[in-house]
Amino acid sequence: MKHNFGAGPCILPQEVFQEASRSVVDFNGLSILEVSHRHKDFVAVMDEATDLVKKALHVPDGYSVIFLQGGASLGFLVSALNMMRESKKASYINTGTWSKKAMTEAKKAGFEVLEAGSSSDTNFNYIPKNLNIDESADFLHFTSNNTIFGTQFKEMPTTSLPLVCDMSSDIFSREINVADFDLIYAGAQKNMGPAGTTLYIVKDEVLGKSTSAFMPTYLDLKTHADKESMFNTPPVFSVYASMLNLRHLITNGGVKSAQARNEAKAALLYDEIDNNPMFEGTVAKEDRSNMNVTFLMNDESRIDEFNALWQKNDIVGLKGHRSVGGFRASMYNALPIESVQVLVTLMKDFSNKG
Ligand SMILES: Cc1ncc(COP(=O)(O)O)c(C=O)c1O
Repeated sequence: MKHNFGAGPCILPQEVFQEASRSVVDFNGLSILEVSHRHKDFVAVMDEATDLVKKALHVPDGYSVIFLQGGASLGFLVSALNMMRESKKASYINTGTWSKKAMTEAKKAGFEVLEAGSSSDTNFNYIPKNLNIDESADFLHFTSNNTIFGTQFKEMPTTSLPLVCDMSSDIFSREINVADFDLIYAGAQKNMGPAGTTLYIVKDEVLGKSTSAFMPTYLDLKTHADKESMFNTPPVFSVYASMLNLRHLITNGGVKSAQARNEAKAALLYDEIDNNPMFEGTVAKEDRSNMNVTFLMNDESRIDEFNALWQKNDIVGLKGHRSVGGFRASMYNALPIESVQVLVTLMKDFSNKG
């Protein structure tokens, strides 16, 4: 078995792979890849996937759960367009690559974009704390977990503005209070399922209120809320496998238990990074992500040696993103703690050998 520390698409539970593969051959006499999305058997899948999201995150009444396509990258634009009101000003917390991309799309949507805070001064290795939020803006946007830089909001920002969050890389990894948000969006391909669908959780009172003159039918979340994610052909396989994965999550104690497992995995690896003289974390301790652990090697001349070691030991996906360098261990819900133990043992052996 490989230990998949990839940042996404990433590891999902083996049981989900097995059941999804059986359904590729025979879902209901037909393959899941050929069944009509209007068939009652797939409508039941969509309904169950929607209900499981609500159950897993305790989504209160008054919110719609929608499965779309386009990834979180389209979500940058969709969120901005749907949240546009009178001021046409939007407040963004800049925590690196993904929030910068979100700001670019908001500008394209016609917003004046204001930075409520930024950690660009130190290559995004912390979460900005003293925010300067323009309370006349239409909304405040932030990225809850910064997949590339390895930072994570431990406390969600507080504001009187409608709160919008790109939760792509930590949704379902920890408990959240959905009622704090007007709009959450997340690409599937970390903790929900295979790439192909994008989850939106939106407060119903937000729908249909945009003041944007440009609102293509597909980008209007009301279109999809009204049609229960069946306005056009949904990404059938991705929704199906997400449903299997959400079933698996609920059966295994739900988000609360996943959070406890994720905290244990993160503690194990950060402890090694802090105690092993060969390695050094890149992020301010209080802002460290439990999903994406970024770290460097103190002796750069030995990086190739360590890369060869983990690759030889069936670890994949540990190479750091080019904007940070070093290593990045992504530890999504499905990564077992045993895989983290394998990595930690290798780090210890490597250091002892040096
Ligand atoms: C936090 C975050 N936002 C957005 C994206 C972009 O997602 P997508 O590839 O679904 O467009 C990613 C991708 O990794 C991400 O980690």
